[in-house]
Amino acid sequence: MADGVVHTPVRHDSADRHVSGRALYIDDIPEPRDLLHVVLGMSERAHARIVSMDLTAVRAAPGVVDVVCASDIPGTNDVSPVAGDDPLFAGELVQYVGQSLFAVATETRDQALAASKLAEVVYEDLPTVLTIAQARATGSVIEPAQTMRLGDASGAIARAPHILKGRLAIGGQDHFYLEGQIALATPREDGDVHIWSSTQHPTEVQHNVARVLGVRDHAVTVEIRRMGGAFGGKESQPALFAAVAALIAVRTGRPAKVRVDRDDDMVMTGKRHDFETGWSVGFDDDGKLTGAAFDLASRCGYSADLSMAINDRAMFHSDNAYALPTAQIVSHRFRTHTVSNTAFRGFGGPQGMMGIERAMDAMALHLGKDPLDVRKANLYGPAGVQTPYGQTVDDSPALALIEQLEASSDYRARRAAILAWNAENRWLKRGIALTPVKFGISFTATHLNQAGALVHVYTDGSVMLNHGGTEMGQGLYVKVAQVVAGVFGLDLDRVKITATATDKVPNTSATAASSGSDLNGMAALDAAMQIRDRLVEVAARELGVAEGQVVFAGNTVRGGDKALTFAELAKKAWFSRVSLSAAGYYRTPKIHYDRASHQGRPFLYYAWGAAVSEVIIDALTGENRCLRTDILHDCGKSLNPAIDLGQIEGGFVQGMGWLTTEELVFDDRGVLKTHAPSTYKIPTASDRPPVLNIDFWHEPNAEPTIHRSKAVGEPPLMLAISVFSALTQAVAAAGDNRVMPDLDAPATPERILMAVDDVRRRAGLA
Ligand code: MTE
Ligand code: MOS
Repeated sequence: MADGVVHTPVRHDSADRHVSGRALYIDDIPEPRDLLHVVLGMSERAHARIVSMDLTAVRAAPGVVDVVCASDIPGTNDVSPVAGDDPLFAGELVQYVGQSLFAVATETRDQALAASKLAEVVYEDLPTVLTIAQARATGSVIEPAQTMRLGDASGAIARAPHILKGRLAIGGQDHFYLEGQIALATPREDGDVHIWSSTQHPTEVQHNVARVLGVRDHAVTVEIRRMGGAFGGKESQPALFAAVAALIAVRTGRPAKVRVDRDDDMVMTGKRHDFETGWSVGFDDDGKLTGAAFDLASRCGYSADLSMAINDRAMFHSDNAYALPTAQIVSHRFRTHTVSNTAFRGFGGPQGMMGIERAMDAMALHLGKDPLDVRKANLYGPAGVQTPYGQTVDDSPALALIEQLEASSDYRARRAAILAWNAENRWLKRGIALTPVKFGISFTATHLNQAGALVHVYTDGSVMLNHGGTEMGQGLYVKVAQVVAGVFGLDLDRVKITATATDKVPNTSATAASSGSDLNGMAALDAAMQIRDRLVEVAARELGVAEGQVVFAGNTVRGGDKALTFAELAKKAWFSRVSLSAAGYYRTPKIHYDRASHQGRPFLYYAWGAAVSEVIIDALTGENRCLRTDILHDCGKSLNPAIDLGQIEGGFVQGMGWLTTEELVFDDRGVLKTHAPSTYKIPTASDRPPVLNIDFWHEPNAEPTIHRSKAVGEPPLMLAISVFSALTQAVAAAGDNRVMPDLDAPATPERILMAVDDVRRRAGLA
């Protein structure tokens, strides 16, 4: 098969438009005539009964055309992804600060903002459960605790030569997509509606809008050309905003736009789950584990959202890259009166991995070993080993990959130099750490692993490509276009990438779980191959050769010494009444999973990687920098090394933000205090390590994925655990490496300072 531009580092199809401002995001689409602007009114209480809600002043405000609340919903008052527990508008009960109560539609946006403040709501406060600790104490859960077991972990730990245990708190994270939540709905005839929605999951928005409106799915069309970032925050969350826009549009017969302010967006939408992880391990003198036990607890917020699957993925990744001879993983999913937490790059996996990486550092300190040696002693090897969920890991490149990175980053010599440097420097301390990543690829809900595509060839030889995947900056569209261009031997610019739409490819899964290109690349390949097979027949006839001799390359179709341009062939096919259009389909093979027993093969394969990070801290202020990071990451046979490089770098830096500067603070009334960039610190360009060496592990995927590539969207985020581990090393150095630091994430300057004071006290140095 001609690969064409597959595997080459072509730039993102919208790169020029992104940097020149010509890329159309939803708010850039020319506004239709009669557009209404919609703003939501929000709850000011975390848990309360609404005694009364008087909207008279809202209705009377200047420019108001419509006001809607729960009683105005013609269909079902729910915009949840799974559990039926996310009301579009609160009815009698509010369950978090920021929950939507009503919406007001006006001629101008300023009018809507002003009017939304005029509601008179009388609340009767109810007892609140805001934190994991409070939820644990009151038994407030979204579903029963789940358990995975491999052998007898508690027995193995109890009998081990060494036993350690600890706990770690891990903060959440706001997605901070640059484009906030937005939807633009246009009424069509007969009560139908079209919605531009900034969503990773157009099908779910379609279904939710139809349910809210009480119409059939075919009355609702959802479309999205690109998002200005999503990161999981637009997997389930956009449904609410799209439903409000659609409701106003069908009620008023006018187009309606909901564009959420940054502050409101941060208050109203779910985030990465914060976790509290208890861990205990048993191990021998070499640091080899005999057993590991984890007690994972997460704050899910007021509703289920995707928390079941997210917490499952945390469990799946509690082993990270380490073969556990015995394991017990218990996962608590706590319900709180805070915004409902949701998908965020890694989908619980990052939180899951943190426990065992902390344990590795603690074991090394206890044994007086280099943490890298303890990690290496426990890696999954190439021989088949069972995970705690029954999947066999038999192709682990972990040791070879780590040893390559260990050498290329000069880890051993730099660690020796850092230990010497720390001995000489009292208040500045350095740390270095190498941590691995093993990330399971596939949706763990097996049925979601399917995709569709639609390919048309026009008679001038140009190609229209559409599929169920969405573009959020990750480069999915260009990767799939490369696949299709490769099938026809065409230059990439012959393939038009078109907006994802529910009326072109239906019943799609969210673009999530990093499987966008795995799924949609294969579905598009299927569609393109169907057309190519038909074209081969026509070409063989026209060129007078056997079908096996027809070659597609360089915008030309050759057979023997004769050739047609691709356009000529397309026209000849049309004259011969051969269809130039096809729908493609793909479902991931081999996977199965039984959630009741937590056993099966949830993942088709794993993506691997490792990073070495070096940091410096100021033990007097807690200030810190990451000085250098070296990454070796497995993209299989990369579909597009330029895009994948961007994903690795962006994922790593986003992970660094999660573990160092991004701190979500709720007060004791459940109000989010960090709801703008002034108080919530995402990494900036200057936080990128000044030395950042990124290399690819080039082994093709052993599984038959699209051109043997591997998914890359989420795994690199977890490479940032190396920064957290290095910071932990630096804090330990402030206590002469005598005691294990009690450093929680994010490792803000304040936390580092407190951890330093604590290790110095415990080490008898202060
Ligand atoms: N990259 C950019 N630039 N913007 C994003 O919003 N989302 C991440 C990742 N990379 C994201 C991104 C998340 S959470 C996922 S699941 C994947 O992209 C989804 O796309 P893919 O399946 O095509 O990799
Ligand atoms: Mo990504 S968290 O699976 O959208």
